[in-house]
Order: sequence, then structure tokens, then C-alpha cells
Amino acid sequence: MNETIKLMRAHRSIRAYTGEPISSEQLDIILAAAQQAPSSSFLQAVSIIRITDKQIRQQIMHLAAEQPYISEAAEFLLYCADFNRHVQIAPEAKTGFVEQLLIGAIDAAMMGQNMLVAAESLGLGGVFIGAVRNHPAEISKLLGLPELVIPLFGLCLGHPAQDPQIKPRLPKALMLHENHYQPVNRAVLEQYDQEIQNYYASRSSNNKEHSWTSQIKGILSKEARPFMLDYLQQQGYCKK
Ligand SMILES: Cc1cc2nc3c(=O)[nH]c(=O)nc-3n(C[C@H](O)[C@H](O)[C@H](O)COP(=O)(O)O)c2cc1C
Repeated sequence: MNETIKLMRAHRSIRAYTGEPISSEQLDIILAAAQQAPSSSFLQAVSIIRITDKQIRQQIMHLAAEQPYISEAAEFLLYCADFNRHVQIAPEAKTGFVEQLLIGAIDAAMMGQNMLVAAESLGLGGVFIGAVRNHPAEISKLLGLPELVIPLFGLCLGHPAQDPQIKPRLPKALMLHENHYQPVNRAVLEQYDQEIQNYYASRSSNNKEHSWTSQIKGILSKEARPFMLDYLQQQGYCKK
């Protein structure tokens, strides 16, 4: 196994940081790695907002489920889908398509993961924050996001002050299909549920009794941010 693959396979989210800042040289390096991510039709439909103001960071933390690491991390970067830049450059551009939301979200995810891998390669750690979508209209107001700019996820980065276990992923047999889609193999799922139960029972912090099945049932028993379509349409997305 080469060093890149070893690094990727060692990933775990880091939610506790030493307080040491990330140097501007390191930040430039990981930003450059993020920027080199592939981009759909080379539209580069992403803007990142680096939140350096402590008060704004605190307000984002309140709007994103009070997750303390949002204010504690050395850096907090908000990833946004951005078609506003295109309209500034080409005012006649056709916008409002659901497809453009997908383009922005996919481009941003690729950039975000490039950034996290680059950070991890420098010994830093981080966690994505989807909870910035709990109150997207308030976040937009706070940060002055114009039409066609929407918050997708945040990324906390810092020097790790914890060493959590690696979280086991779905077995290949449940995730990889060949030529045609296959239904869930229940025997494999049962094994994975047991593996996840053992992982949650034995991990060093935040022990739980969940299997993967019980976890996804819990999450999917709730509505998923049902206000999202209205918000997206207000910001100029998903009109057609
Ligand atoms: C788009 C996205 C949003 C996420 N949002 C949050 C979040 O708001 N808070 C959090 O603690 N973790 C968040 N996570 C981290 C996941 O919980 C984590 O990646 C997952 O449980 C797997 O654990 P691992 O990254 O340690 O392997 C998010 C991950 C992704 C990809």
C-alpha cells in the first residue's frame, strides 16, 4: 500500500483540537490542493468563506446545532455552491436549474475532500459540518450570501487533540454492484450491524448501543430539513 492510500484509509473525523493555529503556509498548501479538484464543465461553481471573526464563528456554531468544535477549530471554512460569480461575468447566463445545484454540490464535495486529505497529510485533522444547513437563510444573512450562493457544508480543521478509532464502512458486498443493481444481502448486513455495534460499544468516547440499521432508522424516521426547497428557490436554485 502506498502512502497516499494509507493516509486515505486512516481517515477519521477529528472534533477536538489543541488550540495551535494552522500556519498561513499550511493553509495556502491545503487551499491549493482543494482548488485543484476536478470541476464539472470547468464551471468552478464553488466559493469558500474562511471564517476568521470569532463572533461570526460563534453565531455559526449556534446556528449549527451548538457543535463546540465549530468555534474551537483553528480554521472553519464554509463551502458554498456559487453561480452568482457566473452571472456577474455573464449576466445573460441561464440559471435556476436543479442540475446546477448538483454541479455546485458535487464540485464543492470534491474540493472539500481534497482539502481534508491534504490537511490530514500534514498531520492536521478535521470534520465536515452539514449542520450549517439547519438554518441556511440565517447563515446567508449573517455572511451576506447573494442570490445563487448557498451554504453546503463547513469544514473544521486543526491540530488533533484526540485519536479516535477508524469507523468501519459498509462491506464491499453491500456497496459495490456489478453490471446490475443487487438487493441488500441480509447476512452481510447482519455481520456489519454487529461490527458497528462492537465499534460503538468499544470506542473511547461517545459510546452507543446502535447497529448501523438502528442508526439509519433513527435518522430516516425524521423529516430531512423540509424547509430546504423553499430556501433553495429563494436563493435562485431549483426553479426548473
Ligand atoms: C457532508 C458531511 C456533513 C457532516 N456533518 C457533520 C456535522 O454536522 N457534525 C459532525 O460532528 N460530523 C459531521 N460529519 C462527519 C460524519 O459524521 C462522519 O464523517 C461519519 O460519521 C463517518 O465518521 P469518520 O469521518 O470518523 O470516518 C459530516 C460528514 C459529511 C461528509
